[in-house]
Amino acid sequence: MPSAMVLKGPSEVREACDAARARGLTVGFVPTMGALHEGHLALTREAKRRASFVVCSIFVNPTQFGPNEDLARYPRDLAGDVAKLEGVDVVFAPEPEAMYVPGERTRVRVDDLTAHLCGPHRPGHFEGVTTVVAKLFAIVGSSVAVFGKKDFQQLAVVRRMARDLFFPVEVVGHPIVREPDGLAMSSRNAYLSPGERERALGLSRGLGAAARAFAGGERRAGALRRLALAAVEPIATSIDYVTVADPDAIAPLPDDATAPERVLLAVACRVGGTRLIDNVVLGEDPPPGA
Ligand code: PAJ
Repeated sequence: MPSAMVLKGPSEVREACDAARARGLTVGFVPTMGALHEGHLALTREAKRRASFVVCSIFVNPTQFGPNEDLARYPRDLAGDVAKLEGVDVVFAPEPEAMYVPGERTRVRVDDLTAHLCGPHRPGHFEGVTTVVAKLFAIVGSSVAVFGKKDFQQLAVVRRMARDLFFPVEVVGHPIVREPDGLAMSSRNAYLSPGERERALGLSRGLGAAARAFAGGERRAGALRRLALAAVEPIATSIDYVTVADPDAIAPLPDDATAPERVLLAVACRVGGTRLIDNVVLGEDPPPGA
């Protein structure tokens, strides 16, 4: 498989995509921040199944990081990433100044869907995500874009943005890719020490326990939430949330609610200094964990 063409300029990428469309190809797109793992690669394979010309962006987007987050130390390895990609035609790896041209004053914000879960814990994060994804959609002009359900709220927010702004793109969600022991793959797993890596299994184990209870008929939102919490509490350095929520509105259900037949259970916590997230859609996904 010949390696992908690496382009740094937005106009070069637009020209490559226009040329592909002129040849009758359909364009699929996978946005990433690099430090690619099997989860990202699964998204590119999904894009290749749905389109004949695939663009993958690798851009550590500064506007989605808070002032005390890991922008400076986020893992970067463009050459290593490009070597991992198969079936990708263009890698778009812009410099920050190419995406945020000096003098730019525009931000894209999605309300409501960002009000809960990660939203309150990461002020400005989703605005950074939707702003950069809108720019990327405008540059690439793909007819399909693939996002991971690992970032379940992000997927919902991007879908709503594409719909509200009339981007002619189908936003496809791909299941979470996990390590054999259940840990959801993440670029940030590289930060974990061996001990923290073991403790991190509390997330998928807690979600798995709740998923098995749900399969056994448990519908009390509080009971499902507490099953996940019981596995996360002992291993977490701090917990942002363990929440049962409507998977479409991303709105939490109170503990005394009865869970519907399809419901999101989502976790965000720190293990050591590393913030990890994971989720399961009860009634839809298989129970995570070994
Ligand atoms: P990043 O964290 O690099 O993730 C890129 C894409 O890979 C996202 O759609 C994410 O949900 C997906 N992904 C990550 N780990 C996954 C896993 N274990 N299984 C399945 N999919 C997984 O998400 C971002 O970058 C950024 O916010 C971005 C959308 C690129 C905007 O900057």
